Amino acid sequence: MKKLITSALPYVNNVPHLGNIIGCVLSADVYARFCRSKGYETLYVCGTDEYGTATETKAREEKLTPQQICDKYHAIHKEIYDNFNISFDIFGRTSTEKQTEIAQSIFQDLEVNNLIIEKKTKRTFCEKDSIFLADRFVEGVCPHCRYEDARGDQCDNCGKLLEPENLINSRCKICGSNPVLKETSHLYLELDKLQEKLKSWSQKSGDIGKWSRNAIQTTNGWFEKGLQARPITRDLSWGIPVPRPGYEEKVFYVWFDAPIGYISITANEREDWKEWWQNPEKVELYQFMAKDNIPFHTVIFPASLIGSGKNWTLLHHINSTEYLNYEDTKFSKSRNVGVFGDSVSDTGIHIDLWRFYLLANRPERNDSVFEWNDFIEKVNSEFIDNIGNMVNRALVYLKKNFDGEIKDVPLSDDQLKFVNDCRNDFIKVTEAIESVKIREGLRGILAIGNRGNKFFQDMTPWEKIKTEPEHAHATVSLIAYLVRSTAVALEPYMPETALKILDMMNLSNTGWEMIGSFNGLDGHKIGKPEILHKKLDVKLAEKFRKSFSGKCPEF
Ligand code: 2FM
Ligand code: ZN
Repeated sequence: MKKLITSALPYVNNVPHLGNIIGCVLSADVYARFCRSKGYETLYVCGTDEYGTATETKAREEKLTPQQICDKYHAIHKEIYDNFNISFDIFGRTSTEKQTEIAQSIFQDLEVNNLIIEKKTKRTFCEKDSIFLADRFVEGVCPHCRYEDARGDQCDNCGKLLEPENLINSRCKICGSNPVLKETSHLYLELDKLQEKLKSWSQKSGDIGKWSRNAIQTTNGWFEKGLQARPITRDLSWGIPVPRPGYEEKVFYVWFDAPIGYISITANEREDWKEWWQNPEKVELYQFMAKDNIPFHTVIFPASLIGSGKNWTLLHHINSTEYLNYEDTKFSKSRNVGVFGDSVSDTGIHIDLWRFYLLANRPERNDSVFEWNDFIEKVNSEFIDNIGNMVNRALVYLKKNFDGEIKDVPLSDDQLKFVNDCRNDFIKVTEAIESVKIREGLRGILAIGNRGNKFFQDMTPWEKIKTEPEHAHATVSLIAYLVRSTAVALEPYMPETALKILDMMNLSNTGWEMIGSFNGLDGHKIGKPEILHKKLDVKLAEKFRKSFSGKCPEF
């Protein structure tokens, strides 16, 4: 099976923070790297989600055109992901002709299949700006709790969902004047007609594809409530034109076209895109995102694809994370609280240590928290004192006492047991990553580091070398093999570190198959061992907590 991997396409109205990064691109990156290492034919696709209200608003805020905003933020996102060594095969964008072509053709298929209906509704309209206002752009007093700055979609104070027309003293967020209600027509996708088909598809796919627990719960919730027709057009100008008379002033709703972006981004780069996107028998689609994106990927996007009647590749496995919070609060660009992708390199901390902590702390079953103390403590104790120590100790010992030469010799019983235990550990790691349990996979690798350190300690090569040098040589050679396997297993998580280990050993990464092999390097000489990463100074926690607290503008 070919592996098609996507991470949610980020909007271009923001700079991603650590939570956004672990939620999608970094998690998908681990899986994509693993798949390549395993030898699966793999394609990892992402890009920026460029249409819609959010972009128009940002453009107004920054006094740029929507296109300029897209260009600017596309570049910002790209640079951040490059810095994190995210190994996209394609990183594209949605504001392209291909996107229009494919989105319009899916829409036309839905029309032909009688799944589109027109409805007239009244929506809030600002006469001064002469635009219909997205719900979020109407503000006013909450009718439930009297909070002054409630938004048209939700009150941030009492949390209740609202309709913009229920706000008291409503005002346009852009100019402050009172909006009116004005009649407008929109096209709706009749999800209700697809309920049965979608439900049986999702039950099957959820089972076979081992969907995340939160994805199954959210999706079942939608079916239990019963699917309803949803509008797929908006009164906006920055978006894909709707190919229907009377809709010249409207565009498709961004959530109708965004997931189609996965397809068009591929089509823009690859002539063989249909081999990926219209090939469900040979391709498994893995999609990574944060939990707020779930229903768009398990209900609405599959509805468009299934409703179109074409043979699209549908979601196989969804991997949806909970949220990562920051210290005792939430990330906030406007308050300048938390670490955003563009300032990670200013800290001088190696990118693999960021990757390590985010992946070790990945919010899988519950929300998790980024804490500076914990970051430094985990990096030092769980990685550097463990894997870092095993690598350094074994390679230095081998270099110093045996001229760096690995030797295959007959093994004693306890050495054989060690080899078997390590192999079993690696089987578990492989199984975990294969079923996209990314955090568990990393925990397994750390346990292997502990095993290697303990083995060195128990085998006392520094004693044995005096009486049975062969035994001592076999011990460190075995740990050298273990180090090689560990490096290969670590590559999806910490690619530069893995490469550094293999480089020091004068070896290259020939793929996952080599993991668990404890012979075949007889006579091979390793290079010069170096410290993998220096320990992080605990004082950094205090310093960075302050500088990223929003109270220290000079950082
Ligand atoms: O939540 C977001 O940032 C959306 N832009 C995700 C879109 S995912 C996909 F459908 F494109
Ligand atoms: Zn206005």
